[in-house]
Amino acid sequence: MDRVDPAPRLVPTVPAPPASPLSFWGYVRAIRTNALTIWTERAYQEPFEWRRLVGRSTLLVNAPDAIHRVLVDNPGNYRRSPASIRILRPVIGDGLLLAEGDAWRHQRRTIAPALAPRMMPLLAGHVVATAADHLDRLPVDAPVDLLAAVQMLALDIAGRSMVSLEMAAFGPRMRALIAEFATDLSRPHLFDMVLPAAVPTWRDLRRRRFSARWMRLIEEIVDARLSRPPQPEDAPRDLFDLLRAARDPETGAAFDRIALRDRVATMILAGHETTAVTLFWALLLLADAPHEQARVAAEAREIGSQATEARAVGSQATETRAGGSQAADARAGGLDAAAVPRLVRTRAVVQETLRLFPPAFALVREAIGPDRLCDMDVPKGTVVMIAPWVLHRHARFWRDPAVFDPDRFMPDAPPPPRHAWLPFGTGPRVCVGAQFALTEATLALAMLLARYEVGRLDSDPVLPSGIVTLIPTRAPAFRLRRR
Ligand code: HEM
Repeated sequence: MDRVDPAPRLVPTVPAPPASPLSFWGYVRAIRTNALTIWTERAYQEPFEWRRLVGRSTLLVNAPDAIHRVLVDNPGNYRRSPASIRILRPVIGDGLLLAEGDAWRHQRRTIAPALAPRMMPLLAGHVVATAADHLDRLPVDAPVDLLAAVQMLALDIAGRSMVSLEMAAFGPRMRALIAEFATDLSRPHLFDMVLPAAVPTWRDLRRRRFSARWMRLIEEIVDARLSRPPQPEDAPRDLFDLLRAARDPETGAAFDRIALRDRVATMILAGHETTAVTLFWALLLLADAPHEQARVAAEAREIGSQATEARAVGSQATETRAGGSQAADARAGGLDAAAVPRLVRTRAVVQETLRLFPPAFALVREAIGPDRLCDMDVPKGTVVMIAPWVLHRHARFWRDPAVFDPDRFMPDAPPPPRHAWLPFGTGPRVCVGAQFALTEATLALAMLLARYEVGRLDSDPVLPSGIVTLIPTRAPAFRLRRR
């Protein structure tokens, strides 16, 4: 009998961790250029790693009980760090991500219903329609920058699903501003880390100038949406309508224009940048693992054609299916919200991508009071880091952690150990868009692979860099072939 060679195992190239703790200046430089390199080799084996920086202690936490204490049992003792506030406030203002206390609770209660599991069919409809439009425009048999393509796709999906606006008029300006911010002002410097958030650094002054330009653009989006006629029956059509209808539980007041702007900025930014990089890393992994790509493509095509057949039978019975919706069905490869639970291999690839390349690579908090984590004293002021990047590659939790292996997330695989897979965080501040992100990434990936075979034009490694999110250090050229 012929021997079937197992598929080669893909081990994506990533920056090597330092063997011993970085020097003071090495650490400060690493935070600014690529924060993935601040953790030593031992961090990937041990439950904790301490470090001191200008009189302040920093603690990396890998122990599940300690993670639970920080994020689930005692989150009130851990607020966002001054550096996170300095960097994020200019682009998201007082939106959900940075809000605290009662203001946070009120926003969370307003926003969560728009992203609840029961809203997924509606949101998936936006994903399918937008992805079909974007896939039609991708160049075939020619070099293509898939990083830029998925960034625009995810931005358009966020715009259409959350504020019912196409992003054509705003998207390129938004992406240009985000790129400008990412290459400079989003990189933390020493003073950003050591000074309290209330004390401005010279970079904060530049961030304020940037913020004014950015927020003007978001106000344009808010104005464009406000100028739309209201729904005839006043039913909320999207997240924006829910935000407008929300009233402060104590004062009964509506969100004012600035509050509305900050909420829209947060949801569009948090809602597209992370999903875009997830799609990028998934496509890179699949381009480098053709065997795995073929399995995902076969699944997407099979489930798409089964769904199309089932709908055709249903429409013959009722004779209601219009030619237009048949054409839309064909452009989507037959895929829709109902297909998502059946795309198990595609979803496993998305989950494994989030393990190897978690967009939110570190959750950083500051202890506002003393605490104890696993019998260890944690003084007030300690910067506590829970780093999905480290947890997802930790020797105690994963077998062959560096290998790309979607089987880990197939339905018959044992679930990951507690808190070992945290791409969306956990506890009360868990990502409010997690369901939507998984639905969006699974559907968009399946639609793309059902239609195109994805290859790369060079085989040089593409390294991840940790700066706010996990971005690639370069945008490699891909090539698409029609299947
Ligand atoms: C793959 C995509 C995504 C990843 C990896 C991701 C990751 C995360 C993580 C780790 C947190 C918790 C941060 C912390 O505890 O410090 C978070 C919070 C948040 N995410 Fe996501 N996210 C994604 C997609 C989305 C989407 C699609 C939306 C909106 C539709 C969204 C909106 C938010 C918001 C508003 C918060 C703040 C929640 C709060 O503080 O109550 N995210 N996200």
